[in-house]
Amino acid sequence: MSLFRPFRNSIPFRSLSTNAAAYIHPTHPDSPQPQATHDKLARYSRSVLNTYARPPIIFTRGSGLYLYDSQHRSYLDMSGGIAVNALGHADEGVARVMGEQAAKLVHNSNLYHNEWSGELAHLLTTLTKLHGGMGYQPNSADSSGLKVFLANSGTEANEGALKFARVSGKARAEKVGVDAADKSELVCFRNAFHGRSMGGLSVTPNPKYQDPFAPLIPGVRVGDINDIHSLTSLVTEKTCGVIIEPVQGEGGIHNVDVEFLQALRRRCDEVGAVLIYDEIQCGLFRSTDLWAHSALPPNAHPDLITMAKPLANGFPIGAVMMRDSVAEHVSPGSHGTTFGGSPLSTCVAHHVLTRLAQMPDLKARAGVLRERLDGLAAAYPDVVKSPVRGRGFLLGLPFLNSAHPARALTLARQRGLLILVAGSDAVRIVPSLTIAESEIHEACHVLEAVLEVLRRESEHGV
Ligand SMILES: Cc1ncc(COP(=O)(O)O)c(C=O)c1O
Repeated sequence: MSLFRPFRNSIPFRSLSTNAAAYIHPTHPDSPQPQATHDKLARYSRSVLNTYARPPIIFTRGSGLYLYDSQHRSYLDMSGGIAVNALGHADEGVARVMGEQAAKLVHNSNLYHNEWSGELAHLLTTLTKLHGGMGYQPNSADSSGLKVFLANSGTEANEGALKFARVSGKARAEKVGVDAADKSELVCFRNAFHGRSMGGLSVTPNPKYQDPFAPLIPGVRVGDINDIHSLTSLVTEKTCGVIIEPVQGEGGIHNVDVEFLQALRRRCDEVGAVLIYDEIQCGLFRSTDLWAHSALPPNAHPDLITMAKPLANGFPIGAVMMRDSVAEHVSPGSHGTTFGGSPLSTCVAHHVLTRLAQMPDLKARAGVLRERLDGLAAAYPDVVKSPVRGRGFLLGLPFLNSAHPARALTLARQRGLLILVAGSDAVRIVPSLTIAESEIHEACHVLEAVLEVLRRESEHGV
C-alpha cells in the first residue's frame, strides 16, 4: 500500500517542509548490500560473540559529524558514538596529539609517574572549581579539596566509586551508630544505567540487563527519582553510598529535580553515606555546563562523581573525582588498574578537555536543537509524547507508541541519520558538541520525515 494516500484523521493537515520531503523515501537502504560486505559480515558473525544486534553496515571512516560506510555513503551522526565523540570524528587535533604521544610513550605502569596523568587530574579539579561543582561555587580558586582516580571506562569508574563508598562507609559507621560491617548498603534509582560489571549491574535495576546474570551483589535498594518522601526509609544508617545520574541517559532521558538532589544530599549527610553522581553521560559539557550539577547550588552537589565517555573523544578512559572527605579513606594498594592513567590516554584527554572548556556558542546551539525538537513535537502530537526531555545536547524525544522509538531509529538510519533509543519510550539525541546549526537543521529535516512516515504508517495500521 502506498504511504502517499491523502492523510485523513482528527489531526489537522499540515504539509511536510520541502527539506523534509526529500527524506520521505529511504536514501540509505540497508539492502541490497554489495557482495563483499555481505561476505565479510557473514564471516565476522561466525567468530564474534553475539552481544549486539547491528544493521548490515560497515563504517570505514568519519569526519566531524559524519560517518562513511564501505559504500562511501555519508551518515549524519546524532548519536556521537553514544555520547562519546564530543569533538566529532577524526578530529585533527586529537589525531596529532595521539600520534605525537604514541611516538613518545604509550604506557609505563602506575608504579611510576608519567608526564600527563597528574596534569589531567589537576585540570579536572581546577576546571571544577572554576565552573562550580563538587561543593564549590564557580570561580573558586583554592588548590586543594578534590582528588582524581584514573580508570579505563565508565563501568570501571563506577566500580571504583562503589568501592570508595564502601571504604568510607566503614570509617563513618561508628558516628551514625552502626557496626562497620553493616554499613555496606547501596541505593540506586529506577531507570538508572551504571554499567555491566557485577557492581555496576547491581545498581542498574533493569530486569533485561540483570536477570540473566543474577544473583547480583546483595544490599542494594532501589528508589524512584524525584520521590522526596521515600528518602528517609530508602537511605538509612546502613547505607554507605547512593548513586544517581543527575540526568538519566540510557534509561530514557529523565531530569532529576534540584529539590530532590538537595533532599538526597541532606539525607546522605544525616546517615554518613557517600553521594555519587554518575556524570558519565551527562557530564563534561553535554548539559552545556562542565557537570550537569555545576548549574545547581552547592547544597545539591555530590561527594564523588564518575566520568568517561567524551573525556578522550573515543580513546578509552574513565575517572572518579572525589572530595578529600572520601579520598582520605583510600590508601596505597587498596585500589588500582594496569592501564588507567596511561600517558597516552591522559595526554589525549588533557587536549580534549582543554578544547571542550573553550567550546563556543554551546548553549545557543543547544537552544536551536531544543527549539527544533519542540517544534517537531508540537507538529506531531499524534506521534510524539510532549514534552521533549533532557538538557543541553542530551535530549530525548518521547513517543506515544512504545514500538516507535526502535522503528524511528531504523527509518532515520535508512535516511542517513544516526540516533539512539533511550528507555522504553524515547529516542536519544546526543551529537558531538561541535555540531553546526546547519547540521542541526539537516537532522531535524530527516526527523520530520521520520515522524511523517510513522504518522502515515499508524494511519494505515502498519
Ligand atoms: C550513565 C552511564 N554510566 C555508566 C556507563 C557505562 O560506561 P562504559 O560503557 O564506558 O563502561 C554508561 C554507558 O552508557 C552510562 O551512560
